[in-house]
Amino acid sequence: MTLAPARPADLDPHALATAVADTRRAGSLTFLVGNDVLTYRADGGTVTETAEPGAWQDLVAQLRTPINLLLSNALVFERGGFDQLAAWDRVLRYLHAGFPPYTAPDLQGRDPGATLTPEDDDDELRAQLETMGYLHVRGLFSAEEMAAANAAVDELAAQASKGDDESWWVGTDDGDQLCRLVYSTLRSEALRRLEQDPRLARLGRLLDPDAIVTPDRMEGSAVLIKVPGQTQGLSNIPWHQDCGMGGHAILCPAVSIGIQLTGSTAGSGNLLMVPGSHGQTLPYQWHSRSDVPVVEIDTAPGDVTVHVQDVMHASPKPTGAGGRRTMYVTFYPRTLLDHVGPGQAFNDLVRNRTAEVATLV
Ligand SMILES: [Fe+2]
Repeated sequence: MTLAPARPADLDPHALATAVADTRRAGSLTFLVGNDVLTYRADGGTVTETAEPGAWQDLVAQLRTPINLLLSNALVFERGGFDQLAAWDRVLRYLHAGFPPYTAPDLQGRDPGATLTPEDDDDELRAQLETMGYLHVRGLFSAEEMAAANAAVDELAAQASKGDDESWWVGTDDGDQLCRLVYSTLRSEALRRLEQDPRLARLGRLLDPDAIVTPDRMEGSAVLIKVPGQTQGLSNIPWHQDCGMGGHAILCPAVSIGIQLTGSTAGSGNLLMVPGSHGQTLPYQWHSRSDVPVVEIDTAPGDVTVHVQDVMHASPKPTGAGGRRTMYVTFYPRTLLDHVGPGQAFNDLVRNRTAEVATLV
């Protein structure tokens, strides 16, 4: 429901301007009616009225998720708790947005573990991406290019400090360790050139030729560094969709490209995918009680992975020495700019909140 202000059919602009004059020192006026927020702002001699969607409308419109509402203290449970709400999430997503519950998809005879190359044509790359929700392309960049990018990451890592709003950290037995550099291309010319490389744009625009990269919002291009061993915080990311913090309606079908700066194995920390899970909803805690197929993607330096944001994926704890480095460059629908301003990201809800996040994971 959207609030529509009641008014007479014809307003006299002079009368309105007179009335507005009284409000000049009072500022804008906002009513909270149930979950609806209605704001009146004086603008010269006229008034603009904005009915801002409340939390409930945001949930229905796939702008915010239950976890988003929980982390921003917008949920109050009178009975039951988050587990009960999460158990209902699949029903709500189907009712509100038409996302069907997950069923094993038809992979059209394609191999979910296939590795493609830059020599494959766009139709072939697109077909694999559309079918699986992800794509592994071997050898997009040379070893020399990855060595240069790693040197640039070393420089940024040396400058990073916990709480600087440009990096994520995790707790370990040896103290806090850097696990992510965000907005990296605003501070490194070498990484900016990599982000703007036409080889990436080709893959990033397979689904949407108008998609854009946003270096200054949505955490820009981030570099992940996998920290080994037991960690407290968000270095190992459990099963998720990238729109899990909210924003599905404005983010998807964004495409994230992971430039594999070091390559990846289970030992250094790799990526797991559920083929064909994009556009569907898996049951809450499906991984502990179902036989949904999972594909592990091992890569070499210079490879890239491409995934649509709502495919189900995970970045588990390295089984060995860790150390995988991946730079993520995401291509968003152009309309993202209408909703997310510079320096804003859905991940702002979790960055620098290691303690709160640890209790959720
Ligand atoms: Fe992700």
